[in-house]
Amino acid sequence: MKRFPASGAPAGAGGPWVEALAGVSVSVAEHEFVTLLGPSGCGKSTLCNIVAGLFRPDAGTVSLDGALIDGTRGRVAYMQQKDLLLPWRTVLGNATLGLEVQGVDRALARAEARDLLREFGLEGFDAAYPAALSGGMRQRVALVRTLLCRHDMLVLDEPFGALDAMTRAAMQEYLLRLRSEFHRTVLFITHDVEEAVLLSDRIYVLTNRPGRVRAVLRAQGPGARRAADPEVVSLKAEILDLLRGVAAGAAR
Ligand SMILES: Nc1ncnc2c1ncn2[C@@H]1O[C@H](COP(=O)(O)OP(=O)(O)O)[C@@H](O)[C@H]1O
Ligand SMILES: [Mg+2]
Repeated sequence: MKRFPASGAPAGAGGPWVEALAGVSVSVAEHEFVTLLGPSGCGKSTLCNIVAGLFRPDAGTVSLDGALIDGTRGRVAYMQQKDLLLPWRTVLGNATLGLEVQGVDRALARAEARDLLREFGLEGFDAAYPAALSGGMRQRVALVRTLLCRHDMLVLDEPFGALDAMTRAAMQEYLLRLRSEFHRTVLFITHDVEEAVLLSDRIYVLTNRPGRVRAVLRAQGPGARRAADPEVVSLKAEILDLLRGVAAGAAR
């Protein structure tokens, strides 16, 4: 559970509160790709921030490999919804940031980053600054930085949110390849139902704020199907129905 002081109210006990997340229980198995899908403002980013240790839950716990980690940073590779590139660092400098924090040798970090930047279509931009990049390129730099972190668990909060459909499709391919090559465990956030169905092993559909788990659905696994496959179409329809139910519930 997580609540915040309502906007404008002084922080602290007694003031009005916004309950962002209710009793949510989410599990991700090793090497699993799990997606959280839910309406805007239902607490998805709050949950990511809790898993990544940036927020402490007001109630509840987070555990990783059997150890409690709530409030501990640096245990997962986290790509926040905002790309958070440092404007005064180059593309290469931003990409290697996570590795530097982890104490990886600078030359090795730069070599690894260059390879992955090339894979993500950013060859030739090593020395560019974020201001010179398109939104999609910035997003890719942030994703490269996250993927370079030596953590088995990735938390990706709407990593393709700002991308157009073409770039988005290409990014999905990259993510699938990296997952199959690097064997990472992924907690993925999106509001795009088709993306969830195409990429996930399992999908949690959340309710409106305060977010609760409305349903958990099993998908075919990352990259197993194309958008036009009947299984994909029917799972999409089922999820859209659930989300319509969530919206109708909120309107009542
Ligand atoms: N740091 C914060 N302070 C106050 N309210 C917050 C904060 N972070 C999130 N909220 C509120 O909590 C709710 C859930 O936000 P968020 O987790 O960002 O939702 P989502 O990512 O699903 O769109 C929203 O009503 C939001 O305004
Ligand atoms: Mg969010």
